[in-house]
Amino acid sequence: MRISVIGCGYLGAVHAACMAELGHDVVGIDVDQHKVDELGAGRAPFFEPGLPEVLTKALETGRLRFTTDMSAAAEATVHFVAVGTPQTKGSFNADLTYVDAAIDGLLPFLSEGDLVVGKSTVPVGTAARLAGLVEGAKSGATLAWNPEFLREGFAVQDTVSPDRFVYGVPSGDAGAAATAVLDEVYATALATGTPRIVTDYATAELVKVSANAFLATKISFINAMAEVAEATGADVTQLADAIGHDARIGRKFLNAGLGFGGGCLPKDIRAFRARGDELGLHDTLSFLGEVDAINLRRRERVVTLTRELVGDLDGATIGVLGLAFKPNSDDVRDSPALDVVTKLVEAGATVTAFDPEANETATRSLPTLTTSETAEDAVRGADAVLVLTEWKEFRELDPAAVATLVAHKRVVDGRNCLDAVAWRAAGFEVRGLGRP
Ligand code: UDX
Repeated sequence: MRISVIGCGYLGAVHAACMAELGHDVVGIDVDQHKVDELGAGRAPFFEPGLPEVLTKALETGRLRFTTDMSAAAEATVHFVAVGTPQTKGSFNADLTYVDAAIDGLLPFLSEGDLVVGKSTVPVGTAARLAGLVEGAKSGATLAWNPEFLREGFAVQDTVSPDRFVYGVPSGDAGAAATAVLDEVYATALATGTPRIVTDYATAELVKVSANAFLATKISFINAMAEVAEATGADVTQLADAIGHDARIGRKFLNAGLGFGGGCLPKDIRAFRARGDELGLHDTLSFLGEVDAINLRRRERVVTLTRELVGDLDGATIGVLGLAFKPNSDDVRDSPALDVVTKLVEAGATVTAFDPEANETATRSLPTLTTSETAEDAVRGADAVLVLTEWKEFRELDPAAVATLVAHKRVVDGRNCLDAVAWRAAGFEVRGLGRP
């Protein structure tokens, strides 16, 4: 099939490359010339395991190209809209400027029978509004909403073989035709039995935001239990293991620690609440405010634990391991780690941080940040070591070796990822979140 992907950020770049990998002819379109040049040269503008390989292979076959020229969409019959919907400055609402601009830019290049497929995460009701524009255009094209559930770090795998497909389509023949087109696009994954749910626009939009709201709630639930554990001397990691054995609960997304960050969960729960307010559902979704508050409190807790360990943060030297919002990513958007670093610096601490992939993105976001080239350099001479992202290389650090580098043997495990027994055996005072 001939596909265009409008917006080549995280979602769009991965989607374009993976669609070409599946055998389609794909043009990725983005307003950012630098991004287009990088992608066209087979370089991912962000760290995502496996993506450079898929990009390079697809570019070599000639089935994938990138351009800033929207008219290239005229060659395609299926158009994925994969632009960002960030949090609006000064409010919780999703900023739909980029989605609206993408649809506006695309309309003149649509032909009879084309399918426009929204992939961006949007407030419920957006697809119905955009469908009016797409169908109203002289082209006679149709709109479908096909949310994306990919996780950073697993983006290629999640795109090529997702847990499920969700198609939000109009009723009647247009919906049946849209479903048939999407089935052809995703034929490879569907052939392996990937479930697909065909539904209306509103349900499709809500599947995405409610899935993210559920995941965020699950994380904040266990972090609330961490607060209870801290008040009672219980151990939240053992508690998570124990309740996680109940298949109805499940152990996944029950890791207590510094909480969730990134480009999706925080802004999506806020936008969902804001949309709920508009729909007169303030009370219904107000619990998401608690989910957010619990999440943000964990960051304060790490700062408090550090203060307890070092006495006074003013003048303390802190070695921070991890800046990305999660391992296997260089993404620092709404990163809990970066927030903790900011709070420590504000309190007068001297911080040196190291992240295997996110030093550069973090420095771009926080220009005053001091980073080091290695974990060893970050912890050298530190009054306390903070592990804020659970990269494998931090989990595997030898505490005896770290002990020879630091000024004081103190560690705060912000992700409950260290072997506390081994660190204590090496002489460290260890503090975790929700652990005695
Ligand atoms: C998320 C959703 O998982 C994905 O389906 C959606 O498409 C986009 O948003 P992502 O942001 O890549 O994906 O990260 P995810 O792996 O979900 O982790 C989100 C955050 O939660 C991270 O900061 C992570 O550290 C944190 N987390 C996750 C926890 O604190 N505890 C857990 O048990 C799991």
